[in-house]
Amino acid sequence: MKITIFASIIAALTPFATAKKYVWPSLYDEIEEILSLQGGYLSRRFADGRTGGIDGSIWFELNRVENGGLAFNNTFNFFNFLYSTRASAADLLAMSVIASHSSCGGTTKISFCYGRVEAEEAGPAGVPETHTPLETMLARFATAGYSQEDMITMVACGHTLGGVHSVNNPQISIGDTNVYNDTVTHFDGSPNQYDNTVAVEYVRGTTTNPLVVHTNSTITSDKRIIRSDKNKTISALARKPSVFETKCANIFSRMIDTVARSVKLSPPIEAIDIKPKITKLYLDEEGSLVFSGRVRVRTTQGVKKGRDPSDLSVHLTFANRKGKGSTVIKTEHAGNSTGLYGETFAWYEFSTTIKLSSGISKFNIHLTVPSKKETTKYTNGGHGYLVDDSVLYQEDVSCVSRTTMNGTRRFTIRVAVQKEQSSSPLTLEIVRFEKRQGVIVRKMGIETVNFEPIGESSGIWVFFEATVQLATSAWSTTFDIVSEGMRKHPGKSGYPEANIEFLRTQTCPRVSS
Ligand SMILES: *[C@@H]1O[C@H](CO)[C@@H](O)[C@H](O)[C@H]1NC(C)=O
Ligand SMILES: *[C@@H]1O[C@H](CO)[C@@H](O)[C@H](O)[C@H]1NC(C)=O
Ligand SMILES: *[C@@H]1O[C@H](CO)[C@@H](O)[C@H](O)[C@H]1NC(C)=O
Ligand SMILES: *[C@@H]1O[C@H](CO)[C@@H](O)[C@H](O)[C@H]1NC(C)=O
Ligand SMILES: *[C@@H]1O[C@H](CO)[C@@H](O)[C@H](O)[C@H]1NC(C)=O
Ligand SMILES: *[C@@H]1O[C@H](CO)[C@@H](O)[C@H](O)[C@H]1NC(C)=O
Repeated sequence: MKITIFASIIAALTPFATAKKYVWPSLYDEIEEILSLQGGYLSRRFADGRTGGIDGSIWFELNRVENGGLAFNNTFNFFNFLYSTRASAADLLAMSVIASHSSCGGTTKISFCYGRVEAEEAGPAGVPETHTPLETMLARFATAGYSQEDMITMVACGHTLGGVHSVNNPQISIGDTNVYNDTVTHFDGSPNQYDNTVAVEYVRGTTTNPLVVHTNSTITSDKRIIRSDKNKTISALARKPSVFETKCANIFSRMIDTVARSVKLSPPIEAIDIKPKITKLYLDEEGSLVFSGRVRVRTTQGVKKGRDPSDLSVHLTFANRKGKGSTVIKTEHAGNSTGLYGETFAWYEFSTTIKLSSGISKFNIHLTVPSKKETTKYTNGGHGYLVDDSVLYQEDVSCVSRTTMNGTRRFTIRVAVQKEQSSSPLTLEIVRFEKRQGVIVRKMGIETVNFEPIGESSGIWVFFEATVQLATSAWSTTFDIVSEGMRKHPGKSGYPEANIEFLRTQTCPRVSS
């Protein structure tokens, strides 16, 4: 029998109440990775985003005149691919501010905190437009908690990048309204660089910013704002690049961390030092356990002395199902990646098979500096990195069919469960995305489906399957395999309950004819 429950809304990721020591695995592994892996091997390709107001309510405001333009939809379309139960649209939008700051040369680190609660409706109307009078602008900023100086700083810092598109604002940026022949009028002479050129050019009187120099005075809102304190704030920003840098980092930090009183943001995310990822743990046709994965090592300069990927080797040691023994698994250096503000990482991969009679319960990670013959052991805060082989995701035979039927495709998931646990409740929790009228960000719900035995077994394992129909239009989604029989995480609240979590659907291989 199949029970289906459709939960309406997914609860926001509950941030840690206090900064705790990281224990693997964690519910924030995903968001940490999107933030940390900006370029290179296994990059999450977050790239740079755009600034906006930060409960994600801007998603609901796309049809309002002040947000007009494809740029927003384009940005959000891009985020959609990273948007999940572990990364809210509002958090991704906040992260885009930091990513664009860092990737355009900003050097003062802006911390990223997660835990923004997704807006369920549009925010109040009345985001200032170019023709909005100064008094109204000041009042709007004051309502949001920003002084006149803050307002001028925000305008200058926001307009150090980019420009105005003729496609969206032909009355401001003179040019074609055809998307394929867009004219961009830049705010300053270095539109791709986070620097104080925008302020310097204004003070010198050489600015090209259309919101300052436009002949139609209704449009020159930047000029009205900047002049409103007799050029005091802009002059300070123009005088010293370091002042501009510090003030901008500060105002962006305040902007993205402005949330409703009921929302509690996490402490700033720091890149995790040593982080494993199990990519495969399943029973193969020969009856062995396939165990593959990778270890990410933080190699950022100045963080850990002597962490040079060209003089580093990594191995694992694992204990059998009963917690005994210490078998070595070697790894290969597979690549490097880069994060924000100079973070770097090196990846070490492993793939092995484990005898059924042995099994696996946990492992430790060892880092060796060959030139110094020094080895450091990492034990996940003394818990070991726990692996539970009592329930296995048989990923080689779990996939979404390529055949479409009535607009849906069948997704079959197979698991192998140790006999002694086979009577414990076992469910699939799959995330469904729902499209909403006029809103680019889809709503998420969880559907719960029971696994059923298929009447096959292998050694101490019995096989179960669950099937669901997925909309053909949904390109991919995530799911958890939830077993009450699995061991609990050593950490307390805020950690995953079972450890086969946040898996991603994959399409079945093409059948060769
Ligand atoms: C592109 O826009 C410019 C400026 O508006 C115009 O002169 C030109 O003819 C347009 N080109 C095409 C191919 O439409
Ligand atoms: C502010 O600076 C601009 C550009 O240099 C200048 O034209 C304007 O007169 C200044 N305004 C005041 C009040 O100093
Ligand atoms: C100046 O800009 C405003 C706002 O876009 C517009 O309504 C007005 O017609 C413009 N005036 C002139 C003279 O073009
Ligand atoms: C990773 O970086 C190190 C130096 O930091 C370099 O020696 C090595 O070739 C890089 N490896 C890969 C796979 O890119
Ligand atoms: C497809 O949908 C139609 C109408 O809803 C239904 O009658 C039919 O049984 C469905 N076919 C399958 C294979 O589910
Ligand atoms: C942005 O996307 C929404 C939802 O798909 C759509 O209703 C809206 O027309 C789009 N806006 C633009 C400017 O394309």
